[in-house]
Amino acid sequence: MSPASAFSTRVVAADEAGIEETAAILREDGIAAIPTETVYGLAGNAFSFDAAAKIFEAKDRPSFDPLIVHIPPPPRAVGKRLIKWLWDWGVIHPHGLPVTQWGRVSALMDVFWPGPLTIVLPRGDRIPEIVTAGLPSVGVRMPRHPAAASLLRRLDFPLAAPSANPFGRISPTSAGDVMAGLGGRIPLILDGGPCEAGVESAIVQPLLTGRIRLLRPGAATAEEIGRVLGEPLELAPRIPVQEAPAAPGMLENHYAPERPLWMLPHALPELSGMDRRAMKWAISQAQRSGAAVLAFRRHDGGVRESLEAGLGMPLQWFELSEDGDPVQCARELFKALRAMDGSGAGTLFCEPPPGQAGLMYAIGDRLGRASRPLPALC
Ligand code: TXA
Ligand code: MG
Repeated sequence: MSPASAFSTRVVAADEAGIEETAAILREDGIAAIPTETVYGLAGNAFSFDAAAKIFEAKDRPSFDPLIVHIPPPPRAVGKRLIKWLWDWGVIHPHGLPVTQWGRVSALMDVFWPGPLTIVLPRGDRIPEIVTAGLPSVGVRMPRHPAAASLLRRLDFPLAAPSANPFGRISPTSAGDVMAGLGGRIPLILDGGPCEAGVESAIVQPLLTGRIRLLRPGAATAEEIGRVLGEPLELAPRIPVQEAPAAPGMLENHYAPERPLWMLPHALPELSGMDRRAMKWAISQAQRSGAAVLAFRRHDGGVRESLEAGLGMPLQWFELSEDGDPVQCARELFKALRAMDGSGAGTLFCEPPPGQAGLMYAIGDRLGRASRPLPALC
């Protein structure tokens, strides 16, 4: 048994005593799972090589995948001088970006912090290379969750924190989810309730070209960020997993349930006879019987019954929302994927996201990585 699997993991409520207990572990270079408004993070001192090494080990995370550094809300006196404060603290570095880009970074911080936007900036002197996987840049974010903010305020170091799940698996949106994935591998989970957003932060990087690139869509939408910048974000291409070391943060085949998840070509009411045949084929390939379907909205009974009749079997149904509301869909997405995975069904299907606007872009990104397209039969 590796040292990482030697803990009896405790869950503590995110009250004064729980937050202080978490802080005590972190001050000793220990690690703990903490709530944020997006997903739970697995936190350790971002200035400490040892703490970062423990994070990588507990998650089985490959060393090429850098960690996001979480900072507290700044003291009131810092105000507009947030960037200078981060330089002085050794989190980011003053060089490596044109002045105009720093101006745009400052505008993004003003609007989105605290909140679900990570900004990739030149790495500061106190961030060890292990945290950034050797990159000269560091992803920085100021979480909005009150327990995370309160914890960060009482520490004199920032927190490196990837999502608190085993590498490649579904991100956790509750303390129970963290326990299911990392129980026995970490000493403590700070339970701050279910996460408000349900998908991770958006990640942007200011480029030397003067553009700002979206590395990962997330809970702050590309449209909102573009509005603040006065121009659309540059979109990063998706990179196949084999090439991942050159482009961390853009891994295909991530967020995966254990069972095969197939993305349907159309929303349920539009499925053709051909599509249903393809679904039957997918079901026949699985090692276990039974199938489950993830829908974005509650479809009326007729839609569900006709699909069940077409497939000749009952289905388990998981609905992200009543009416397709994107905020609700984002909040429920990872929870529903976990529930489907644990449902016993041998084959999982999901509807394609209805459009790419706003939060649906991030939802589609995560579902796209968790699934493969259902092949068309001819
Ligand atoms: O909402 C979130 O961002 C959550 C909560 C816990 O804050 N964190 C999170 O961390 O999603 P993680 O490690 O699961 O995903 C962070 C992604 C990684 O895939 C990594 O490649 C990318 O951010 N990243 C971090 N630093 C980077 C850098 N310097 N350059 C490019 N990508 C970076
Ligand atoms: Mg993650």
